[in-house]
Amino acid sequence: MSIVYLNGEFMAAENARVSVFDRGYLLGDGVYEVIPAFAGCLFRLKEHLSRLQNSLDAIKLENPLTADQWEQMLKQLIGQNMHPELSIYLQVTRGVAVRDHAFPVDPQPGVFAMANPIHKLPASYFENGVAAITADDNRWQRCNIKAISLLPNVLLRQQAVEKGVAEAILIRDGKVTEGSASNVFVVHDGEIITPAKSQYILPGITRDLVLELAETHNIPCAEKDISRQMLFDADEVWLTSSTKEILPVTRVDEKMVGKGTPGKVWQQMMDIYRDYKNGLLQQAKC
Ligand code: PDD
Repeated sequence: MSIVYLNGEFMAAENARVSVFDRGYLLGDGVYEVIPAFAGCLFRLKEHLSRLQNSLDAIKLENPLTADQWEQMLKQLIGQNMHPELSIYLQVTRGVAVRDHAFPVDPQPGVFAMANPIHKLPASYFENGVAAITADDNRWQRCNIKAISLLPNVLLRQQAVEKGVAEAILIRDGKVTEGSASNVFVVHDGEIITPAKSQYILPGITRDLVLELAETHNIPCAEKDISRQMLFDADEVWLTSSTKEILPVTRVDEKMVGKGTPGKVWQQMMDIYRDYKNGLLQQAKC
């Protein structure tokens, strides 16, 4: 039975109850984070809490917990849901209030967190790569906020599901932004390229780590626009997220990417990423 955290208390998931007047429920008024925890270690916690703070600042909601309180609470949550690979979901909503679009005068934020085992992706995803489609990025202009109101992302991801592929790669004004729930990288002539941070993409923690690791290992990388044509001409395409890590894409819109198998640069980056992760776990330094 899984244990969740809700507004200051730990409880069995089936006993967790929130009010129907919570603005998260009625208006999608809230933000969230997904943090992986490997062997009980919260991976890149500082970066996730910093992004949470940015999201809260963007929606003008005070952070209900200090960084130390978040860490303490999340560690307790992990302790109560022991599993080697957990995905921690946390959300902060603007809480219970009479329904009105305008902010309540004295909001009482609602805090919820749960820990679920990360579903292991099939080995074939890494051996053969996955397929993706492209889709028009018809989301709002503040995609850098990790908002719980995810209906556009939900509909875009569903397009991918209905086509039997892993992800929808989004294109806005002729340029790749990101996936419906991931960031996008391409490799061109040995250079790793991902779009620069902007209001049109979520600043992914895995994205930043991949760039950081590429730099420390002297692999050429750049943050610049990826046109639709560059996506189709790429030698390699990758998706990154906290739960997918680095996933090779070998077909886009039924066209083969590169040689149609996971590329050499992906393999190199995956090895570096795994070494980095194992290093942190061995030193218990995450
Ligand atoms: N989503 N872009 C979008 C739109 C995302 O939803 C996500 C992750 C990412 C990758 O960010 P990160 O590397 O920090 O996980 C990029 C999470 C996993 C989710 O919504 O479940």
